[in-house]
Amino acid sequence: MILEAEVELKNSLFADNVFYSLGDSLNALRLDGISEILCYGLGHFSSCRSSKYQLALLLSLKKYYNSRVYVYDPVFYSHEIELLKRFDCNIIEINEEGKRIIQDSVTLIYMPHCSIYLTNNFLYTNWSKRLNKCILLTNSFSIVTDNLTKANKSVSLDYVLRIRPYVTEIPLRNNFIYKDVFSDLNIHIFLEENINAIPQSFWNKRDEPCYRGAEIHYLTAKQTERIDAKNCCTEDET
Ligand SMILES: C[S@@+](CC[C@H](N)C(=O)[O-])C[C@H]1O[C@@H](n2cnc3c(N)ncnc32)[C@H](O)[C@@H]1O
Repeated sequence: MILEAEVELKNSLFADNVFYSLGDSLNALRLDGISEILCYGLGHFSSCRSSKYQLALLLSLKKYYNSRVYVYDPVFYSHEIELLKRFDCNIIEINEEGKRIIQDSVTLIYMPHCSIYLTNNFLYTNWSKRLNKCILLTNSFSIVTDNLTKANKSVSLDYVLRIRPYVTEIPLRNNFIYKDVFSDLNIHIFLEENINAIPQSFWNKRDEPCYRGAEIHYLTAKQTERIDAKNCCTEDET
């Protein structure tokens, strides 16, 4: 099922767009590959069409760039975790709430239709010039922040809002056969000339995000404690 989706995806114009735009992004960043892919929030790919094709894209990217892949979604079923392992993906066993520290390797952060608050957490955790080693394939910053600002709900999205003037957003034409699968996803990069123009004081101001009272639309570590403990003990049934 996933393999069929992968073939269908790979033969699509949308995949051509993604690979072409990622190639362009890597050129602009003067990088020559993607060592790691961090993927949060795929969802139930065994039962949900969007998640299935999003996984197909992940696996195509993994193969093409020969990348190490790390995945986490608190709702994964145990059989989904086993399948991901068989596809040679590394399962993150705890809910990091998006706060994974990126090492010094080129990393694609893939968060299809995830909460913008997870992106905000990711930026907070990696708040430094090294962001220019990251490529974010996430919901469009501009669409999400414009909508939240209009609704007066952007106050706690400090990191997304502060970095926005320095982000280069590369639009992906949503021409996949099923429009809901990759809707509003864009590539975001941090060009060296933009990052270098930022004064050090900008990075030094770095308080832990606090979302008291906001609808954050992601599951917190506290909420998933029990699920994570169960999943981390899941045996390989193969
Ligand atoms: C709006 S759904 C998107 C699902 C799927 N990617 C799609 O497009 O249909 C958001 C996903 O984020 C996941 N999620 C919630 N909290 C998370 C967390 N702390 N870390 C990673 N993923 C999380 C949810 O379980 C859910 O699968």
